Amino acid sequence: MEKVIAVLEGDGIGPEIVRESLKALRAIEKKYGHRFTLTPAPFGAGAYFSEGSPFPEETKRICDESDVIIKGPVGLAVEQMSRIPPEHRPENGAILPLRKRYDTFANFRPVRLPKHLASFSPLKPEILGEGIDILMIRELVGGIYFGKKIEGRDADMRFSSDECTYTDEQIRRVAAVAFEEARKRSGRLTNVHKANVLATSRFWNQIVEEVASGFPDVAYRSMLVDNAAYQLVKDPSQFNGVMLLENMQGDILTDQAGGVIGSLGLMPSACIGTVKSYVEPAHGSAPDIAGRDIANPYSMIGSIALMLERCLNLAREASDVWNALFTVFEQGYTTADLSEGPNESRKLLSTSEFGDLVVEYIEKG
Ligand code: IPM
Ligand code: MN
Repeated sequence: MEKVIAVLEGDGIGPEIVRESLKALRAIEKKYGHRFTLTPAPFGAGAYFSEGSPFPEETKRICDESDVIIKGPVGLAVEQMSRIPPEHRPENGAILPLRKRYDTFANFRPVRLPKHLASFSPLKPEILGEGIDILMIRELVGGIYFGKKIEGRDADMRFSSDECTYTDEQIRRVAAVAFEEARKRSGRLTNVHKANVLATSRFWNQIVEEVASGFPDVAYRSMLVDNAAYQLVKDPSQFNGVMLLENMQGDILTDQAGGVIGSLGLMPSACIGTVKSYVEPAHGSAPDIAGRDIANPYSMIGSIALMLERCLNLAREASDVWNALFTVFEQGYTTADLSEGPNESRKLLSTSEFGDLVVEYIEKG
């Protein structure tokens, strides 16, 4: 297969974890005889300082001309961020515009922690049960993050508001994707909402239930978001299968899921769009540890696996990458951000050593 891939390495730990993920991609390319043309482009806070925009026109052109995009985390330390005008900060000036440009409505965030890695989690092993394997699917281009924002002032008060809107079509398409996934895994689907308070959630449930009627084979249930947050910590494996979440609730619960399995560094993601898709880790750029070769590259390498699987339809190649990632842990290695159990003595790896081992296991696998 021949593909053109834009590479936005981003800020902070971005360049170092993207570098490791590209090593894994090159190993796959070689093993299977593909041809991936990688085109780097500036994006994020660094791009604002060097190019005057966090999402420069030239980067847009490179992305438009690519088949798929690999994006690292973006953002710099607070002090530097405060020197960027709000509309040019990476959230509002780069990430949300990227999602909107390619209509990346379905965000896949797999949350996986096999039983034998239970020690990475802050939860007790008996709470983790047989292990965690949840596919969180977050709606990514609608809801409150994309609604009208007001910061106003009247004669006697100041106020602000964020509008939250969903159309039936926006809900239907992401729900359809989630039910298809649940059907493929013959798993249950948990729909998360706040319908006891929000009109958008009541509407969300109505449409999701219309879609559900076309999938009688999928075990469906819905749960209030506050209860889901509680249950995710008390008994996470009850969610094994698919969770469907709107944009903001999904943003919050996917971070919580990272905490449940031990680190946001274990949270890769794919953003599937109608125009184009891209992959990114679910976490930030960790400027405090940037450049020290200690960040865990799992989330970025896992994002490459998701790209192979979900954007390029290369299932075998993707499973090679997943297997290599889990083999690293099975062989008793760890990175600084992951805890080890009381009876373990794991060997500590740097970012680049982790990437080297992944390459080795891809080659052998
Ligand atoms: C994420 C991030 C983004 C989001 C921010 C940086 C805009 O937190 O991808 O989860 O809220 O979607
Ligand atoms: Mn987030």
